Amino acid sequence: MRYTIALVDDEETIRDSLEMILAQDYDLSCFQDAESFLLSLKKSSPDLVLMDIGLPAMSGMDALNIIKQKIPDLPVIMITAFEDIQMVIRSMKAGAADFILKPMNPDILELTLKKTVASIALRKEVKLLQEKYLKDHEPVFIGESKHIEDIMDFIHMVAKSPDTPIMIMGETGTGKELIAKAIHARSPLFQGPFIAVNCSAFPDELIESELFGYDEGAFSGAKKQGKKGLIEEADKGTLFLDEVADLSLAGQAKLLRFLESGEFYKIGSTRKFKVSVRVVSATNKNLEELMERDLFRKDLFFRLCVVKAKIPALNERKEDIPALARYFLFQFNRKFKKNVLALSPEAENLLLSHPFTGNVRELKNIIERAALIARTDTLTGEDLGIQDPFPAESPDSAGMKDMAVTIPEQGLHLAGLMENIEKKYMEQALLLTRGNESKAARLLKMNHHTFRYKMKKTN
Ligand SMILES: Nc1ncnc2c1ncn2[C@@H]1O[C@H](COP(=O)(O)OP(=O)(O)OP(=O)(O)O)[C@@H](O)[C@H]1O
Ligand SMILES: [Mg+2]
Repeated sequence: MRYTIALVDDEETIRDSLEMILAQDYDLSCFQDAESFLLSLKKSSPDLVLMDIGLPAMSGMDALNIIKQKIPDLPVIMITAFEDIQMVIRSMKAGAADFILKPMNPDILELTLKKTVASIALRKEVKLLQEKYLKDHEPVFIGESKHIEDIMDFIHMVAKSPDTPIMIMGETGTGKELIAKAIHARSPLFQGPFIAVNCSAFPDELIESELFGYDEGAFSGAKKQGKKGLIEEADKGTLFLDEVADLSLAGQAKLLRFLESGEFYKIGSTRKFKVSVRVVSATNKNLEELMERDLFRKDLFFRLCVVKAKIPALNERKEDIPALARYFLFQFNRKFKKNVLALSPEAENLLLSHPFTGNVRELKNIIERAALIARTDTLTGEDLGIQDPFPAESPDSAGMKDMAVTIPEQGLHLAGLMENIEKKYMEQALLLTRGNESKAARLLKMNHHTFRYKMKKTN
């Protein structure tokens, strides 16, 4: 394939001589100044840029900074006179792919171009592979809320730096493992393994052999040929430490030692192993509280939590519910070979008012069951098999029917009385929920904002 090069140099002699040297192997377009080159980028972008540092109006250095902001992957090779070596250092720091000194030696020019072109080809290949991989494997993360949008931005940002440990927090079923997989799929390690370790699944005596493996004859009952540990399995990929808060203190100490050095010993072996893995951990527990109670090591916390993301509970992002329900419906339609196309408005309303303590997993299970039993092409409220938490006639309002009321002779101020009753119930709800306003509001089937507003008004 022929690559296109943009040459930006104010000296005509340089432009002419480079044209002579390069025209045979490359498609060259020449520019006298940075401004006209930057303008041309609006229409099309070359595969690489050769740019003089000392340009007349806008300097090559300034142009480089603009290019790196707009098209970070476009390789720019700086051309410079020898005395500008400080500039060369600055431009390399600013992201230049390479540099060529004037007067130009044609052999060095050719070598530098070949090297850069090879790296372009490699990057293109990786990108294509990654796109293909994403098409086949990318965990689909559904959501329309601002929360999910922020989380997606976060994934795209952190996935790129495979050395950064990431902690994902969130209630059960919020999608922590799915996020970990999405990070892996978008990282440079995407072709490597993704190994999930459920830290709560192993008793203390087993976790070490599961994580680090053992050598032959390490202990009685050990497999003859020894065993690879999960950390070794995850080499050049992602190690997902699920439920990391459940790791015993002994397990935590061993994990920390590995994280600090990237090295470990198998049980019964004196041979040191070194692996390179990206660590993503997840928990639904409050690690700060566990640290205060000395149940989770602070040093391990800081190792694992270089960046962290918290996935909000489904109740805090109800706007995601319809999209998730439709997505799961689509999935289970395929699985059960059914043709349930939509949710009835009643079903959608039921879902929107359901408390979802099990978060997305609970929603997925509800839709799975409903899709299986649905008899028409639309899911009904009945198919969902969940209770309406706000039935028109709730048991408590039904009880009110028979409540005796008396009106004093002088009459009463009904609105004021109702407000007082409401306030008493709200205070009681706050007491029961230890001051948690959103839980208190839920207990009274009130909108959180209304609850807050009314509390403020009455205090
Ligand atoms: N935003 C989402 N889009 C699509 N599917 C989702 C989403 N969030 C969660 N799921 C699905 O819900 C289920 C639960 O998600 P996941 O296992 O990632 O949760 P978790 O936070 O790891 O839960 P736990 O703490 O119980 O381990 C999975 O089947 C997952 O694919
Ligand atoms: Mg999980």
